[in-house]
Amino acid sequence: MPRYVRIDPEEFTLLQPKVFFLSIIVMTMIVLLFQSNIDKDSLIEFSKNNVVENSFCLSSFNVTKTFGFHNYTEYLRGELPLIIAVPHGGHILPKDLPDLTNWYSEDYIRFNDVNTQELARVVAQQLMIEFGGREVYMVINHLNQRKVDVNRPYEQGTKPNIDSPMESSESQLAWKSYHEFLRNAVDEVEARFGRGLVIDFHGHAHQEEYIEVGYLLPADLLALPVHTLNTNSSIHNSSSIRSLYYRMFDSQITFTSLIRADVLSLGGRLQMLGYHTVPSQAHHYPTINESYLHDGGGGYSVRTYGSSDGGKVDAVQLEIPKKFRIGMEASHRFVVDLADGIGWFFKTYYWGRIEW
Ligand SMILES: *[C@@H]1O[C@H](CO)[C@@H](O)[C@H](O)[C@H]1NC(C)=O
Ligand SMILES: *[C@@H]1O[C@H](CO)[C@@H](O)[C@H](O)[C@H]1NC(C)=O
Ligand SMILES: *[C@@H]1O[C@H](CO)[C@@H](O)[C@H](O)[C@H]1NC(C)=O
Ligand SMILES: *[C@@H]1O[C@H](CO)[C@@H](O)[C@H](O)[C@H]1NC(C)=O
Ligand SMILES: *[C@@H]1O[C@H](CO)[C@@H](O)[C@H](O)[C@H]1NC(C)=O
Repeated sequence: MPRYVRIDPEEFTLLQPKVFFLSIIVMTMIVLLFQSNIDKDSLIEFSKNNVVENSFCLSSFNVTKTFGFHNYTEYLRGELPLIIAVPHGGHILPKDLPDLTNWYSEDYIRFNDVNTQELARVVAQQLMIEFGGREVYMVINHLNQRKVDVNRPYEQGTKPNIDSPMESSESQLAWKSYHEFLRNAVDEVEARFGRGLVIDFHGHAHQEEYIEVGYLLPADLLALPVHTLNTNSSIHNSSSIRSLYYRMFDSQITFTSLIRADVLSLGGRLQMLGYHTVPSQAHHYPTINESYLHDGGGGYSVRTYGSSDGGKVDAVQLEIPKKFRIGMEASHRFVVDLADGIGWFFKTYYWGRIEW
């Protein structure tokens, strides 16, 4: 019997509930196993108590950890074509660095995405366990967003005021350092694996409390009719998963399936795990009064490192609601589910060996 069979999308759809059901049972077992000896109330506690130990026991690969200018950027070289970037979870606020103002935009509030660094690290550990000790790549900015915004173009992200001189500043060196690491990771992943995925890890405080998934497609575009979304190639080409779309083209997976079908998209998977996600089968697009990613479906990093301009590395901006980052619902169960969602998407399209 052939090990990997060609499955047409219809069949795949029928097949998936079984697989999904099974994985739910397995996940539940894992959750029960873990919860018996893990403090689930505090994410930070969790990461302090467990991650280092797990990493020590399970990682069989040599992960190189490197720091950039003034240790403001941390870079972990992984063993999987998955790169997790954390631009807004930094804790360092040097007094001698001027605060950025919002000279380029009136309505933009400059807040850190609280606990995204901690959450991303724990998700990365969970993924490492799932992928047999292989680590994901990580690029972490340690400076607070008030000092540098690495998800903005160079000038906006580093110039404190509109008339600040553009002479070399620490913010600029930190910005360059972060993007050198990220560029390096993307190029290396493409060279080593021939494809790859960047997850740009963010947090939001929108009242809908959906997980927001950004593919560089603004809300009004996501709201276009299905037929338009599936046939207009300038839409596909402007998305940060353009490369994935064309890789899947022959398997007749439609563009809308890739971004919001229950068994084929990241949003669909997270929605099935019980977390309201947009886009997904439950929320095809943000409705007129719902908040969705500030920058038209994704910021500077997904624009720069995703495949909209070509290349074989895709990018997704993932926005985690506040309630899953702070407080009672920021639990180990959420970490496991989020890692399951990301791991499933990654395995299906970037790592798994299913022949579509
Ligand atoms: C990891 O690196 C150390 C020192 O460079 C080396 O001795 C060891 O063999 C490496 N382990 C693996 C699994 O590559
Ligand atoms: C960066 O971190 C390393 C190791 O933690 C430390 O030895 C070094 O002094 C730090 N460098 C700066 C500029 O803070
Ligand atoms: C396809 O979408 C683009 C971008 O939204 C739009 O400018 C263009 O007119 C559309 N083309 C067709 C044939 O609908
Ligand atoms: C979109 O990209 C594909 C593949 O790269 C190309 O064949 C097609 O002409 C592009 N369409 C537009 C409208 O740019
Ligand atoms: C959106 O909000 C406006 C102003 O609050 C309201 O008038 C409108 O009915 C809302 N639209 C929908 C579709 O909810």
